[in-house]
Amino acid sequence: MKKIGIIGAMEVEVEALKKDMQISSVIRKAQMEFCAGILNGMEAVVVRSGVCKVNAAVCTQILIDDFGVDAIINTGVAGSLNADINIGDIVISTDVVHHDVNAVTFGYAPGQIPQMNVFSFQADEALAEKAAAVSRKVNPSLQVFRGRIVSGDQFVDQPEVKKRLIDTYHAFCTEMEGAGIAQAAYLNGVPFIIIRAISDKADQSDMMDYPVFEVQAAQHSIRLVNALLGELKKR
Ligand code: ADE
Repeated sequence: MKKIGIIGAMEVEVEALKKDMQISSVIRKAQMEFCAGILNGMEAVVVRSGVCKVNAAVCTQILIDDFGVDAIINTGVAGSLNADINIGDIVISTDVVHHDVNAVTFGYAPGQIPQMNVFSFQADEALAEKAAAVSRKVNPSLQVFRGRIVSGDQFVDQPEVKKRLIDTYHAFCTEMEGAGIAQAAYLNGVPFIIIRAISDKADQSDMMDYPVFEVQAAQHSIRLVNALLGELKKR
């Protein structure tokens, strides 16, 4: 892999990466700022996509078409869907599903996009395994999980929604961009992984502290992505 695209939905999810980077050019397109340069020895393009799946998918397509990235890494925060996965912990995607796609009336499983030949979008196995190993090194106090991530254009904090995502998809965490990135990457045959640190439990618990947890979780994910690029450079 020669050039990696790194997407975060919000500024807090990419800010520190941009600070660490030797930026050689900043290109604006689709109201996004693509920062190209060297991050931890590896050629990279870092960008804030904006929140939700369409922004994330548009961003992914631009990274592929205009910057020729060989792989895409999504960094950010997510709500936990598993009692063992605590605030701060890391989840790395095995696969990604849209939890708000529903064509059940026509016989499709919940989450299945009609007339597409896949149900879930598979993350790159080798990249995900490497990321998990790097996480254990750079975030030793945090648990790291590999599992399904679900995405929808909604912040999940209602018990019945949380229960539906667990029962229907057996997902490890929920967020708002991963499936848009995964689908766009899949359509283009570009490998991807989604890396998320847990900022909340996808319910109303601890929401008073959400702003603090969000910043801390974003930093955990960034630390991992930064170190992962250092590892990829060595190959
Ligand atoms: N991102 C962080 N927490 C989330 C949640 N509970 N639902 C959707 N996206 C999130």
